[in-house]
Amino acid sequence: MNAHLTNIWFGVKCRSKRSLWGADHMDGMNQAQALPRQVTVLASANAGKLAELSSLLVPAGIELRPMTAFGLESPEEDGATFIENALIKARHASSATGLPAIADDSGLVVPALGGAPGLLSSRYSGEGATAEGNNQRLIAALDGIEDRRAHFYCALVYIERVDDPAPVVATAAWNGLIVDTPRGTHGFGYDPHFFVPEFKATAAELEPHTKNAHSHRGLAARRLAAALRQRDAP
Ligand code: IMP
Repeated sequence: MNAHLTNIWFGVKCRSKRSLWGADHMDGMNQAQALPRQVTVLASANAGKLAELSSLLVPAGIELRPMTAFGLESPEEDGATFIENALIKARHASSATGLPAIADDSGLVVPALGGAPGLLSSRYSGEGATAEGNNQRLIAALDGIEDRRAHFYCALVYIERVDDPAPVVATAAWNGLIVDTPRGTHGFGYDPHFFVPEFKATAAELEPHTKNAHSHRGLAARRLAAALRQRDAP
């Protein structure tokens, strides 16, 4: 499966690499326990992301370690898209550690604002931006605009090594509408202004497990996990 595989076996012996991923040797076994664990750097210092991604990626044989465990700083994110920025972060982490890496990049996209805040989501209100400042700028920018459609977007990438020519990429979007009045206390960032019609609530009013089950990040993570599980399938 992997050049940089750190094969920490769970005590299950398999005859071939392929047999690890097939069902033929899985009878009576927990699949997660039958896979070798591949130590992989998560190019993020966010403990919440680590926990959420870890639980989804263990069945794909991946053991995530945060970049802080390697003393890594974030690189400059100067890509033109979320996917490019995620790749920049993943390559930085893989280059520094010699390990496979996973990175994500996400943000809010508002078509009526030409895609803003987009890649600038975390610093939309400028130097030293806060979530409150970003939200104020967003609501001011939408003043008098009827089209309130927006989506959160998340790109997740996995690379096996720094020069991996075939990264595994998973993306997802979560559609909503921007409302002027903030509601809810959960979540972070733009959540209090992001109204989800399906729930008739803002993202900040949703319980964390509900948000994770429907959000851009949750969906992208499940897609990445599925893609990694299928990667070596015949
Ligand atoms: P990051 O990719 O997790 O660093 O997110 C970049 C920025 O996008 C955050 O600082 C938020 O402003 C915004 N963002 C991304 N995901 C969410 C979300 O689920 N809720 C609210 N804001 C988000």
